[in-house]
Amino acid sequence: MARIRKAVIPAAGMGTRFLPATKAIPKEMLPIVNKPSIQLIVEEAAAAGIEEVVIVTGRGKTDIVDHFDAHPQLEEILRRAGKEALLHEVVAPTKMVKLSTVRQQRPLGLGHAILCARHLIGNEPFVVFLPDDLVDAQRPCARQLMDVYEETGKSVLALMNVPRSETHMYGIAAGSVDPNDPRRVVVDRLVEKPSNEQAPSTLAVVGRYVLDPVVFDWLARTVPGRGDEIQLTDALASMVTTSGILGYLFEGNRFDAGDVTGYLLANLNWAHKQPRIWSQIEDFVRSHPSK
Ligand code: G1P
Repeated sequence: MARIRKAVIPAAGMGTRFLPATKAIPKEMLPIVNKPSIQLIVEEAAAAGIEEVVIVTGRGKTDIVDHFDAHPQLEEILRRAGKEALLHEVVAPTKMVKLSTVRQQRPLGLGHAILCARHLIGNEPFVVFLPDDLVDAQRPCARQLMDVYEETGKSVLALMNVPRSETHMYGIAAGSVDPNDPRRVVVDRLVEKPSNEQAPSTLAVVGRYVLDPVVFDWLARTVPGRGDEIQLTDALASMVTTSGILGYLFEGNRFDAGDVTGYLLANLNWAHKQPRIWSQIEDFVRSHPSK
């Protein structure tokens, strides 16, 4: 089975759920503790074994590109000051993967954004990382899906059970559980953001997908759907009948960093890994009993 080397991160969205913070700053640059959230995504990609990442950007997103570029002047200042740890932090994002960018010129939807990367992905399976979805897992979420792809040769979607009242926020997958592995689902239906009455299940697609390159042909044929946008879920819904798609109930905790509360929880989750910061947060919480 083809080894997966490449990934696409669509990062052209306007971040309206986070205004006014995202008026002049790309939402992907908002920090989780001291790193822009998109760096956590690229770190997950690198940890999963991805070598090349294509970031799909749009107007106002150049800060993202700068973040992953070298900054010789700053590096020199830190080197001269003997600030080796900070120097390492500044250099690390430039070395994690081989990065390229492509612009989505019009906001025509997630499916269209991925199609913009077609010429850089070519005829290889690849991973899509939606940067709003941060997943803290022992084994990177993308790696969990890649292992299933490398074993089966089928596209694999990250799945998570959600309350029925939340189906309208997600692509929803329905199918049958693999009797040999309760984490695997053979998907037979996909619907983008159905109402709770119409949802065929409560299995939500989270922003990690391992995709066979045939998806590009389906995306090219997909007409605008929900929100008048070309939806990845719609292309996958067509592809499911011919190519077969698996879902995988991944291990780990997912945070919606595109939502204010989800973003704050993500900050707490990653702050919890740093004892010095966490003890100050505990002190703060102790001195602020809930109202
Ligand atoms: C996108 C996808 C949706 C998926 C979700 C996961 O929606 O369109 O199918 O379930 O990401 O976060 P968005 O949240 O960008 O509107």
